[in-house]
Amino acid sequence: MPLFTALPPLSLYIHFPWCVEKCPYCDFNSHAVKNPIAYNEYIDCLLLELDYELPNIWGRSIQSIFMGGGTPSLFPAEEIERLIQALRARLNFKPDIEITLEANPGTVEQSSFSGFRHAGINRLSMGIQSFDDSMLKNLGRIHNSDQAITAIETAHAANFNSFNIDLMFGLPEQTTEQMLTDLQTAIDFQPPHLSHYQLTIEPNTLFAVQTPTLPDDDALWNMTQQAHARLAEHQYQQYEVSAFSKSGKANQCKHNLNYWQFGDYLGIGAGAHQKITAANTQSITRTAKQKHPQHYMQQVKNQTHITEQHVLQDNDIYFEFMLNALRLTTGFDAQTFNDNTGMDISSIQAILDKAQKNNWLQQDDLHIQLTPSGQQYLNDVVTLFLPD
Ligand SMILES: C[S@@+](CC[C@H](N)C(=O)[O-])C[C@H]1O[C@@H](n2cnc3c(N)ncnc32)[C@H](O)[C@@H]1O
Ligand code: SF4
Repeated sequence: MPLFTALPPLSLYIHFPWCVEKCPYCDFNSHAVKNPIAYNEYIDCLLLELDYELPNIWGRSIQSIFMGGGTPSLFPAEEIERLIQALRARLNFKPDIEITLEANPGTVEQSSFSGFRHAGINRLSMGIQSFDDSMLKNLGRIHNSDQAITAIETAHAANFNSFNIDLMFGLPEQTTEQMLTDLQTAIDFQPPHLSHYQLTIEPNTLFAVQTPTLPDDDALWNMTQQAHARLAEHQYQQYEVSAFSKSGKANQCKHNLNYWQFGDYLGIGAGAHQKITAANTQSITRTAKQKHPQHYMQQVKNQTHITEQHVLQDNDIYFEFMLNALRLTTGFDAQTFNDNTGMDISSIQAILDKAQKNNWLQQDDLHIQLTPSGQQYLNDVVTLFLPD
């Protein structure tokens, strides 16, 4: 049984489930807008839901907030401002809190970005994906390369010092040269953070049914190597499989780091998930909320919006920690394991030893990190920690 002497850091995730159109590769909980969005009602529902959750996090401070989607930038800045003010009234914000909002370049206006900044958003994450019009068209995106560039310039003009660019690679018919051109265009804007995702074909998407021609495994391997080299040349340090930050730790995404280090997070909104540690019961509970936006808004009013809830077993706790933390290329400290699982690292030392014998992992001064071979065989390493 875990024993928590202190509670893990706490973040807040807020889901916005609507998009202008549904992209053919996307399996996130996002729905094409059919009727005008009930902005006001949705924000009221988020706050109602938060009020139910407050007793579960009483006295704790929030270190980061992530407004994700879907497309949160579809919401008017005034509604986002009302939301942030109401959050401030209910929660203790840490003084250096990171507040991110995901923005789709097809939904950007100069005034809305300044409005988001004024509302208290201090980090923007922009879904650029590519600067190549034919790639964007193949991906079914609603924006073109001019709009992608305008979005980044608008973020600069609105004083977003901290921002992220999402790019995808391994796109239909894409060559390594085209991938590098996209990457260099992004680098030239000097984003403090860049996420470089390999396009994956997810079940239940249009691409799973009508799969386009994608680069083969050798081409993908080559793209990955060349992208890492180009990013390193420009002082972007990789700290997770797809995440790169300029000039080290200061620009890493606090919110995502908290997930990868098995911190706690509240999740509110349609389809949001949360993981909360409770000191009184010495347990960790995972909870999922109703996915469908209209059902969510109805159910939250009579408190029937929770669709799944379970307490983690001891074996799940260390497995889930490793599943997340092994994604961090810079590794993790044994102390973080102890603090965030409530268990002592010695309880999994036998498995760590086995991974070290395979040359997949190195452990020194209580810091644990994958070797290059471990990074290559990440799935096999994770399997070692699977509960019996
Ligand atoms: C939840 S989306 C939200 C961002 C915003 N809605 C947008 O698309 O502009 C976050 C990011 O996940 C990435 N993503 C989504 N589906 C993906 C897939 N099938 N394969 C790889 N990356 C994906 C995209 O880079 C996207 O920007
Ligand atoms: S805009 Fe983003 S969240 Fe919406 S469907 Fe496209 S990839 Fe998914």
